[in-house]
Amino acid sequence: ASVATVPSRNPSFAMISCDDISYFKKILGEKGVVQEELKLDDANTDWMRKYKGSSKLMLQPRSTHEVSEILNYCNSRCLAVVPQGGNTGLVGGSVPVHDEVIISVSSMNNIISFDKVSGILVCEAGCILENLITFLDNEGYIMPLDLGAKGSCQIGGNVSTNAGGLRLIRYGSLHGSVLGLEVVLANGTVLDMLGTLRKDNTGYDLKHLFIGSEGSLGIVTKVSILTPPKLSSVNLAFLACEDYVSCQKLLSEAKRKLGEILSAFEFLDVSAMDLVLKHLDGIRDPLPSSKHNFYIVIETTGSMESHDKEKLEAFLLSSMESGLLTDGVIAQDINQASSFWRIREGIPEALMKAGAVYKYDLSLPPEKMYDVVDEMRERLGTAANVVAYGHLGDGNLHLNISAREYDDSILSQIEPFVYEWTSKQRGSISAEHGLGLMKANKIHYSKSAETVQLMGAMKKLLDPNGILNPYKVLPTSISQSGVN
Ligand code: FAD
Ligand code: MLT
Ligand code: ZN
Repeated sequence: ASVATVPSRNPSFAMISCDDISYFKKILGEKGVVQEELKLDDANTDWMRKYKGSSKLMLQPRSTHEVSEILNYCNSRCLAVVPQGGNTGLVGGSVPVHDEVIISVSSMNNIISFDKVSGILVCEAGCILENLITFLDNEGYIMPLDLGAKGSCQIGGNVSTNAGGLRLIRYGSLHGSVLGLEVVLANGTVLDMLGTLRKDNTGYDLKHLFIGSEGSLGIVTKVSILTPPKLSSVNLAFLACEDYVSCQKLLSEAKRKLGEILSAFEFLDVSAMDLVLKHLDGIRDPLPSSKHNFYIVIETTGSMESHDKEKLEAFLLSSMESGLLTDGVIAQDINQASSFWRIREGIPEALMKAGAVYKYDLSLPPEKMYDVVDEMRERLGTAANVVAYGHLGDGNLHLNISAREYDDSILSQIEPFVYEWTSKQRGSISAEHGLGLMKANKIHYSKSAETVQLMGAMKKLLDPNGILNPYKVLPTSISQSGVN
């Protein structure tokens, strides 16, 4: 069965020639021009091993100037490119579809400055998120975003996907915390928007165009980001609810009773829990006395241990008494806290180990969120395992359908049903992962025709030859119309 549908190669793009390779070697040196099969194989394949391109060339610039020279040349030659960060994207956006040149900014990984008073960090796009987290930890700060892929994903990739993750409920989206960007446009023009100001209302705030545009409008080379201080008291609770309505009620109670110290509110259902327990090594059920239908992970972060503990314990006690919670445990030390996080963050990995996975990332009104899971289970019966988890506090459901192998008859039960259902609720078919290749032609389920037309016009203005990440984000009928 087909794993992913692939649009045909746009013939207006040039094929790489020996002269192109010589030119790239001249500007980047031998090391910056990667043609080894093994390395290319990795860069051509996405994290899920679902999308696979056939690029014969990866370029590794070390400076903004080199990125600019590369793009200027590719644009004049009409060579298509795909910007790549840590290659942890989940929608087939970070790998070539055909023979696009891969531009990896991983060698651009310097921290440029950090202001200890304001907490403003300026760094190159290739910095790995976890390295930034470690750097900031030593300075008494944290990153405003955290996600399971932190060991590999890069800040440039995070910005380009507008990654959400586990802390969005507290620190908001990157549209709020990114203060500035440096971006190279398709023709090599360097846009210096690398401000470090909290307030700046001079004209259109163009950086927002590049946050979440998945490498289709420019390559992000530098990022300026506001980081919150690291607070001394962090608590983590692993809880159980018997039904979805209780999860929802618990969320509104948590917002009210934990207030400003709430820093994560995540959920997983029993199918997700079973999968983690079955496929990941060394995981123990934190609530082993009985099985539960739903699990909630709540984190609090504050500045006074006694106050935070008192608040959390009072909240848990009242939730137990009112029957919203049926069981729960607070992590007693940092090791136990990481083991709780490992359960939540390990779900994508467990799904990969279980076989084929169809991934949907939906924004839905929280009161409707689990209805689609129940309906999906009904539709699929025993043909596949329907698994649900996600950022409940943000109204973001990760609906995953796990099967032994990819099967067109399973897919036809899922799509277009899942998109139509989401559209009917005025939800989003991509809450945080982006559209990539997977959903480029599905954008109309969440955006009006006029909006998509305007996006197409902006794409054409910024990238008239359509060389940046072709076949992704926008429907090919829009992104390729009028290209040469
Ligand atoms: P890539 O995968 O390399 O690229 C992603 C997209 O950005 C592509 O379209 C690419 O062309 C573009 N891009 C990359 N770098 C640049 C650049 N410098 N300039 C322009 N375009 C660029 N996502 C969430 O939102 N929340 C989560 O909680 C979350 N958890 C995850 C957990 C796991 C285990 C995994 C595997 C993935 C998870 N993701 C999550 C998805 C993914 O990690 C994020 O989308 C992440 O931000 C991608 O970063 P990256 O550096 O790997 O980018
Ligand atoms: C998560 O929240 O775990 C990520 O977005 C990855 C996924 O959806 O599988
Ligand atoms: Zn997520």
